[in-house]
Amino acid sequence: MATADKNAYQLMTTAELDATISELERKVDDIAAQGLKLDMARGKPSPEQVALSRPMLDMVTSETVLVDEGMPVDNYGVPDGLPSARRLAAQILGVDPANVVVNGSSSLNLMHDAITNAYVRGIAGCKPWSQQGTVKFLCPSPGYDRHFAVSASFGIENVPVPMRADGPDMDEVVRLVESDPQVKGIWCVPKYANPTGVVYSDEVVRRFATLKPAAPDFRIFWDNAYAVHGFTGEDEPLLNIFDAIGEAGGGNLVYEFGSTAKVTFPSSGIAFITASPIDMVDLRSAFAIERVSPEKFSQLAHALFLKDLDGVKAQMARHAAIVRPRFELVERKLTEGLAELGIASWTHPKGGYFVSFDGPEGSAKKTVGLMKELGVIMTGAGATWPYGVDPHDTNIRIAPTYPSLDELGAALDVFVVVVQLVAARLERASRA
Ligand SMILES: Cc1ncc(COP(=O)(O)O)c(C=O)c1O
Repeated sequence: MATADKNAYQLMTTAELDATISELERKVDDIAAQGLKLDMARGKPSPEQVALSRPMLDMVTSETVLVDEGMPVDNYGVPDGLPSARRLAAQILGVDPANVVVNGSSSLNLMHDAITNAYVRGIAGCKPWSQQGTVKFLCPSPGYDRHFAVSASFGIENVPVPMRADGPDMDEVVRLVESDPQVKGIWCVPKYANPTGVVYSDEVVRRFATLKPAAPDFRIFWDNAYAVHGFTGEDEPLLNIFDAIGEAGGGNLVYEFGSTAKVTFPSSGIAFITASPIDMVDLRSAFAIERVSPEKFSQLAHALFLKDLDGVKAQMARHAAIVRPRFELVERKLTEGLAELGIASWTHPKGGYFVSFDGPEGSAKKTVGLMKELGVIMTGAGATWPYGVDPHDTNIRIAPTYPSLDELGAALDVFVVVVQLVAARLERASRA
């Protein structure tokens, strides 16, 4: 049993610890003999979840009227997206449809586009980022590896910022954004963050809204990917950043993104972006160079299938019924297997796709490596930090949605044994 300052292995005599390690190694040998093949690596909806949206595939047929509120669906034009799809996206994000562009199926693609525009053409009347020396993005960590990969791919310097229980460490964010004109952006997942599940507090949102950046071309990349993805039935409201900016006197500070990737079909959803009216003028002209008009059949199908925010909420309640038992299983297995030992901590999200797990210092790579040897693939250790470098090598992202409940249970049983063994071995090594 752990105490406040020592874990259970630290409290053991060396003989007890050696016996524990031998016992855990026997368990690991038994697991190895099972020849498992399980995947907990990426946050993908399960087959039952994607099946929920199959009826959408019948919404657009050769019989469907291909006009949306007077706009053609079957020809060029309507560069901002169909009116009904823009209204749907605006309701999901809680913003004015006039400031929304629906474009393509991937919000990550829109984030990449927005950076490309700033990098190549420049924004807010400033020189392109490509001509301003090394520019920087703040990366609340643990965070989303694909965000960090986008900024890194431009040669932007990713700067980690600690993630707290109510959002990023805002003292650090304010200090860096307000003092360093090379800081041009910050990656934020404000609701059910990837991977912590954190919902930013009102105070954090207000501090973002009142930032006074040193760089006029600094923007917050507000990726509201999980805006409607609660799974407990009890929504945790997120203060609307544009409302907070309005209260603070306005300004061009935020690009907000969203998609239906985890409402309907990943890779075949609809993606959207919103920003201040002035920023939208700029983004629209950037999009106009990239393409004549967006794909619109999928937009029409989404509008006909989901209809409005109530339709989205009904769909998300169906997802929640599938997702919730998986997160409950994670909580139960980790609590039963690890809580008393005091060797790990993890988050308890009420929405989103992930649980963020922290083991002892120096354990994450070893844990994920041994899991792989035993046939269970997890997100690579370090992936939640810029450049894959977790400074304390503690963090592991658990993605419980894709496997079946049986597979997930089996994977978690292996995980618990592996975490115990790695922690016990680390303690033993520290005594050698
Ligand atoms: C925070 C976050 N943003 C964006 C995405 C990808 O969204 P899309 O498929 O719309 O590009 C994901 C997918 O896991 C995510 O976790």
